[in-house]
Amino acid sequence: MGPAVRKVIYLDNNATTRVAPEVIEAMRPFFGELYGNASSMHSFGGQVRRHVERAREQVAALLGADPSEIVFTSCGTESDNAALRGTVEALAGRKHHAVTTRVEHPAVLSTCRYLANQGCRLTELPVDREGLLDLQLLEEMITDDTAIVSVMWANNETGVVFPIEEIAAVCQRKGVVFHTDAVQVVGKLPVDLRRTPLDLLALSGHKLHAPKGVGVLYVRKGTRLAPFVLGGHQESGKRAGTENVPYIVGLGAAAELAAQYMREEVTRVRALRDRIEAGILANCPDSHVNGRRDRRLPNTANIGFEFVEGESILLMLDELGVCASSGSACTSGSLEPSHVLRAMGVPFTAAHGSIRFSLSRYNTQDEIDFVVEHMPPIIHRLRELSPFVPKGKA
Ligand SMILES: Cc1ncc(COP(=O)(O)O)c(C=O)c1O
Repeated sequence: MGPAVRKVIYLDNNATTRVAPEVIEAMRPFFGELYGNASSMHSFGGQVRRHVERAREQVAALLGADPSEIVFTSCGTESDNAALRGTVEALAGRKHHAVTTRVEHPAVLSTCRYLANQGCRLTELPVDREGLLDLQLLEEMITDDTAIVSVMWANNETGVVFPIEEIAAVCQRKGVVFHTDAVQVVGKLPVDLRRTPLDLLALSGHKLHAPKGVGVLYVRKGTRLAPFVLGGHQESGKRAGTENVPYIVGLGAAAELAAQYMREEVTRVRALRDRIEAGILANCPDSHVNGRRDRRLPNTANIGFEFVEGESILLMLDELGVCASSGSACTSGSLEPSHVLRAMGVPFTAAHGSIRFSLSRYNTQDEIDFVVEHMPPIIHRLRELSPFVPKGKA
């Protein structure tokens, strides 16, 4: 018997998603009878290899890429590391500058700061109050010394989507390698690399209903990249290590499902997201949306509640079986608001009380209505207890 599972309302899909039942079915044979090594010479291995190549085609189709441009990795973090470190190493001695933004995921930001410690000059671009970039500033920051520009496609906390087609065009014009962390976009919005001239793109299986532990780095043909994991010749010599066949097959199946249902899902999920947002804003005074509302992922709502702690809201939601997430990270005993909300200049009082709800194809209207009904009393109760509430606001 497996572990006991409590029934939850899961609204934390930017953290991870449920593996789709169709994906589990697609993976099953590769934990059993089809256990061969995809790189073996014998036909038993060759049979497995064909499924890996089919998964490569499925992921390529979702991205509008050529299968030869798909490199399987272990996760989004590895893909981001490989893109940044592989490019800087490939161009070492010639170019010594990287450009990124202050609101990237740590997979990019920590890697860029590591490279800066190694002697690479680093520019971290600011965002405005709505989480948007100044594209003119981005262009001005690119010099003859710039090796790589790395800008996320959509922000994991606010859902704000950056104009990646435009940024890719700027980088192409300037002859600079452009990488995007598309971990939160792939599977949620259409991506077509035939008309987006970027060089490198990271995605992660567990954000689109495949398992944790598999990702992809898209490498446009002709892009110079030093291999990040050294060893055998797997993945065309770009990423060594015996292929994780079941998970790769699962990611292929998840990519096909996403392509198949994207149009219908985007509409349905956006309607649910708008419903939770409208319901909460209408019934909780002094609350507002973080991030430019008309340039966001369809599944993400980041709502700031003045004068309360995000962690207290999460605990009370958790008691009701509702999973969400807050923008704060516990650092050295003090609750610091997230680097993303700080970069946006969200006032301290609201950044502390920010909650992210992120939806998926598996959420229902009943779940949304349950949360909309229970949020106002939670906020009201916490404000009654809060020392920060100005007189007359409780
Ligand atoms: C924007 C973004 N980039 C990178 C990652 C890291 O992906 P993984 O968990 O597959 O390492 C995440 C995960 O939260 C993310 O949201």
